Amino acid sequence: MSDFWSGWIMGLVVLNMGITLFLFIWAQRVQIPTQPDGTSGHIWASGLREGVRPLPRWWALFSAACFVWAIAYLVLYPGFGAYKGLIGWSAHAELASDTAANDAKLDPVLKGFDGRSIEELAKTPEATRIGHRLFVDNCAACHGLDARGVRAVGGADLTDAHWLWGGTPQAIVTTILDGRTGVMPPFGAMLDAKAIEDLANYVLSLSDSPHSSEKAAAGKAHFTVCAACHGPDGKGNPALGAPDLTAKRRLYGERLADIEFTIQHGRTGTMPAWRQRLGEADVRLVAAWVYAQSPHDSPPASVAASAAAPASAPASAPAR
Ligand code: HEC
Ligand code: HEC
Repeated sequence: MSDFWSGWIMGLVVLNMGITLFLFIWAQRVQIPTQPDGTSGHIWASGLREGVRPLPRWWALFSAACFVWAIAYLVLYPGFGAYKGLIGWSAHAELASDTAANDAKLDPVLKGFDGRSIEELAKTPEATRIGHRLFVDNCAACHGLDARGVRAVGGADLTDAHWLWGGTPQAIVTTILDGRTGVMPPFGAMLDAKAIEDLANYVLSLSDSPHSSEKAAAGKAHFTVCAACHGPDGKGNPALGAPDLTAKRRLYGERLADIEFTIQHGRTGTMPAWRQRLGEADVRLVAAWVYAQSPHDSPPASVAASAAAPASAPASAPAR
């Protein structure tokens, strides 16, 4: 705090306390002219006569105690401009000592997780409990409390068997540590409206969703440029974050118009990086919780598993 502002605050404190103290003492001493009937003689418009009563004693004592307390506080604690107070308390120091105490309590617990694999942590309730808390605090805004994704921000569904960037423990940890940006280029300049509509119908056909088979057949011819990223069968490519187009539930909506919009204007879904904010130990815990939310049996069984797992059962419902 600069000297000017420190002085400014000190001035205000002295002025404020001075005025209240003066009023307090003055009010004890001032003599109000009193009529023989104990009133001030003033009669209010409604006919009420104004009485004269001394302040109750408890009130005066209580106020005096407040002044003593206020002055003692300003002597002991920071509050009077830049003056630090006699006992040297500060909010920063208290935070630091609370944090240190918390770390001391938590460190042994976290140490126990060192060197354990994400799969193991995903089966350890103490680990997933902390992971879940971290998720609620940091991730739920975009992925939802239930991890099923918040459509408006393109936050991916983390509970299904379809992964943009891969669902192995290592892929999930990398995604969270360093973030990801999926780049779906805009094709509005390259394809006309009919080609886009045909392609969108073809995309719908890949997930067995209602579509026009005539348009889908026409769209298939254009799909070669898409196959470079989404694969010839549309199953996606985790190296590029290209989604599996055969999935019923989509990042950006299941309607024909949603898909046409994506093809025309492109998309750049961005998952922020957490290495700095959370650090590796916490990222491993939240990754373990995320890993525990999705079906991940032996890879070929993933489709069956996604149909059987209760968490992803309503996946085909147009939730949001
Ligand atoms: C600001 C919004 C936002 C926040 C906060 C956020 N994410 Fe994401 N996350 C996204 C988006 C958007 C994507 C999809 C990226 C893409 O389109 O390629 C994503 C993708 C992911 C993926 C990859 C999914 C897949 O299918 O491969 C994982 C895993 C993930 N997030 C976990 C987390 C975790 C854990 C946290 C909290 C530490 C978190 N996210 C916080 C927006 C967010
Ligand atoms: C350069 C690689 C690339 C090409 C080429 C490409 N895509 Fe994509 N596509 C992506 C990526 C990456 C995403 C995910 C975008 C995101 O995460 O925000 C995506 C997303 C989509 C989505 C949204 C899926 C969802 O879940 O909502 C659709 C639909 C789609 N692409 C269709 C197409 C079609 C049709 C073509 C061909 C005209 C095409 N893409 C060409 C990379 C590509």
